[in-house]
Amino acid sequence: MIDLELLTEQVKGVAKEAGAFLLAERSHFNMDAVESKRAHDYVSYVDKQSEQLIVAHLREILPSAGFITEEGTAMKHDEPYCWLVDPLDGTTNFIHNNAPFCVSIGLCDHEGMLLGVVYECTRDELFWAHRDGAAYLNGEVIHVSDVSDLDSAFVELGFPYDAENYGPFAIQLVQRLYGNVGGLRLLGAAAVETCYIAAGRFDARIEAFIGPWDIGAGSIILQQAGGRTTDFDGEQNWKDGSRVLSTNGKVHQQLLSVISECRGALDNSPV
Ligand code: IPD
Repeated sequence: MIDLELLTEQVKGVAKEAGAFLLAERSHFNMDAVESKRAHDYVSYVDKQSEQLIVAHLREILPSAGFITEEGTAMKHDEPYCWLVDPLDGTTNFIHNNAPFCVSIGLCDHEGMLLGVVYECTRDELFWAHRDGAAYLNGEVIHVSDVSDLDSAFVELGFPYDAENYGPFAIQLVQRLYGNVGGLRLLGAAAVETCYIAAGRFDARIEAFIGPWDIGAGSIILQQAGGRTTDFDGEQNWKDGSRVLSTNGKVHQQLLSVISECRGALDNSPV
């Protein structure tokens, strides 16, 4: 048996250390260090070194766990536990000296998420939760909002880097939501945005393709704050990434209906 309370405490320390590294590098970051993984999907030594630091610590904390990480430093085999690590979520914000950006670390077993820690560096905000407890922001318990009316919902969108495949759906979704919800935003850091739903700052978030490292930690924090994460069918088939709807739970069904109206635009997209 693993001690989730103790593990979460240890992971909070790792996330803060990696976050301090991100902020230190940001203070003298040069755009010349930016590489492209593919069109408009950026990375730099900062993402890679942050990942190495996190993986080294997590290996000491729980040697029996595998890894799924954004920059591919370590891989999952058939371990009983698995870390989901985004060493710098919000890379495009980071390289342009914008907020937010964060470190996102989740742990799952074969059943689901066990714990999540997200450290948003620019506001010094640490979000965390484990399966058996409340969700926290800097030590205060957080809850989702009470908004149940779609017309008032403050909705966050994520646009995947693959515009060719996901652009048509994004455009239809914006057309359907713009003017019919309380507000639309694109902050550019999926893990942070999911935690913002947990804290009642947003009511929902929609993205048609997302990595497990982007959503794993945020999803358990949201769940323990009273919210919900599903795929676009309202099912639980989102854990390896892909189509994800996260909400306060109260606008979930209404947004599934909106998504189903726009689904045709995703017909030829990879899941
Ligand atoms: C990206 C951000 C963005 C989301 C993308 C992610 P990265 O992660 O979370 O908001 O729309 O799908 O890939 O590249 O900044 O780690």
